[in-house]
Amino acid sequence: PVSQRVKDLMARMTLDDKVGQMTEGERGAATPAQSAAARLGSILSGGGSTPTPNTPAAWADMIDAYQKAATSTGLGIPIIYGADTVHGHNNVYGATVFPHNIGLGAANDPQLVEKIGAITADEAAATGVKWGFSPCLCVARDDRWGRTYESFGEIPRNAVENSVIIEGLQGRSLEAPTSIMATAKHFIGDGGTTGGVDQGNTQISLDELRRIHLPPFQAAVNHGVGSVMISFNSWNGVKDHGNKFLITDLLKGELHFSGYVISDWNGIDQIDGQEGFTPAEVSQSVNAGIDMVMVPNDYLKFVSTLKAEVLNGHVPMSRIDDANRRILTKKFELGLFEHPYTDRSLQKDFGSAAHHAVARQAVRESQVLLKNDGVLPLAKQDNKIFVAGKNADDMGNQAGGWTLTWQGQSGARVIPGTTILDGIKADAGKGTVVTYDRAGGGIDSSYKVAVAVVGETPYAEGRGDRPDGLGLDAEDLALIAKLKASGVPTVLVTVSGRPLDIAAQLPSVKGLVAAWLPGSEGAGVADVLYGDYNPTGKLSFTWPKSSSQEPINAGDGKQGLFPYGYGLSYRRHHH
Ligand code: IFM
Repeated sequence: PVSQRVKDLMARMTLDDKVGQMTEGERGAATPAQSAAARLGSILSGGGSTPTPNTPAAWADMIDAYQKAATSTGLGIPIIYGADTVHGHNNVYGATVFPHNIGLGAANDPQLVEKIGAITADEAAATGVKWGFSPCLCVARDDRWGRTYESFGEIPRNAVENSVIIEGLQGRSLEAPTSIMATAKHFIGDGGTTGGVDQGNTQISLDELRRIHLPPFQAAVNHGVGSVMISFNSWNGVKDHGNKFLITDLLKGELHFSGYVISDWNGIDQIDGQEGFTPAEVSQSVNAGIDMVMVPNDYLKFVSTLKAEVLNGHVPMSRIDDANRRILTKKFELGLFEHPYTDRSLQKDFGSAAHHAVARQAVRESQVLLKNDGVLPLAKQDNKIFVAGKNADDMGNQAGGWTLTWQGQSGARVIPGTTILDGIKADAGKGTVVTYDRAGGGIDSSYKVAVAVVGETPYAEGRGDRPDGLGLDAEDLALIAKLKASGVPTVLVTVSGRPLDIAAQLPSVKGLVAAWLPGSEGAGVADVLYGDYNPTGKLSFTWPKSSSQEPINAGDGKQGLFPYGYGLSYRRHHH
């Protein structure tokens, strides 16, 4: 049994081997030889940290080189390679890129989400990545927070139900070639910070923490999640990364989490509020219950500091052994000792048509029809459609953050797939003309309908907070005014990582669809616009009447523009 193998192995490990296992470096900072020399337990790709060329084969070569070095030294313990599988295996060019969680929350289809998890794992495993830093189970309580789109919804139920994605990621058994280990993140209270400040302070009672932010992690543990990542936020002024009550008592004790706990990127540095980490922060975080520390660059300093903290008695050997038991158990369960190298036969399905079809279905189901004065669905035949807006023909914008790069990037063709404009053109029927101009140039009353695709441009953690409000930018406002002046009935499609402040623009448009961040399949948005798919999406986030209503959540008594659970469908046509 695994427990015996872990025991046998640990009996042969030195303190150096053990502190190494507890350390995760970044690929850009540790070569395979350096990783093996330091006995590192794990290597990660930070967002956008990719080999060149950014292909599945190059990923497999890179990761196999780490495994070769790791398994040929000392005890030959394989590393586990981790990456952010936030909406698919999104760092790799050509991966299937699914809607971000906010869209999946609106789709209300956990079975589909489980399938998305399985495809994500399949594509990750094809590149050698056996550990995904997903799902994010945050319950975002303030739309100004820049990670709102990584949240399934503003109430715990959305994250609880969709945490079944863990079953898809981890498969029937971790050992299956198509399984990867999932990470429930970020424990705990990341979505509850005051003002929606990323890495901020969650100032709430223990009761509220339990009621709002804990249930998704209980669900994740019930699904057998292999790892949990600690959150950068503080709880009532104390950084989670140093909080023994939260990590050891609540997560490992009360929730019976038996996998291992990983820190966030340099997360232990923040415990004392000063740059870098001190010996005190190392011992405090490990004693609090963190089993593996993500120290992308300073892994050597971490290894020597942790070792010294053990030798001087600040960290008990029992804690080091517990961490190693947890980490090695997962490595055995994953079959890494038997199969350390990438199963390249999986690469034939990477970004396959079948995978993209599931993504397109997810896009369809995630669309929320918020307003329809009879302008939708668009007629497919003999129509004259004008398409405009910065998000109509931009793969980067519709994919959002965590796509190829950490923050994401605008760009018409940064990833393969279909833009929303592509879909509108491709689905158009006989006699229909589709004209596109980003700024609305050339719009005139000869058009029967205009589709304005507006909203946000990519951002990710640290750079996505909007304390000044959730309104549209000047370009979008000018476009809406221009289309209104033309007299052409307009459908507004919002591409965004959160609810927007659009009450003032609503009277100017005859239809409104929230498309969220659909990913690689813009055609799924067109499917809804044409009525090929009758919208079923329901808001998992309340839309405010104005930014001044933030924070606004279901059940807090505030009347927003569109309530939680809202979403229209087309009436059935009887011919
Ligand atoms: O997994 C992420 C986390 O969500 C935010 N900080 C960086 C980690 C690794 O990229």
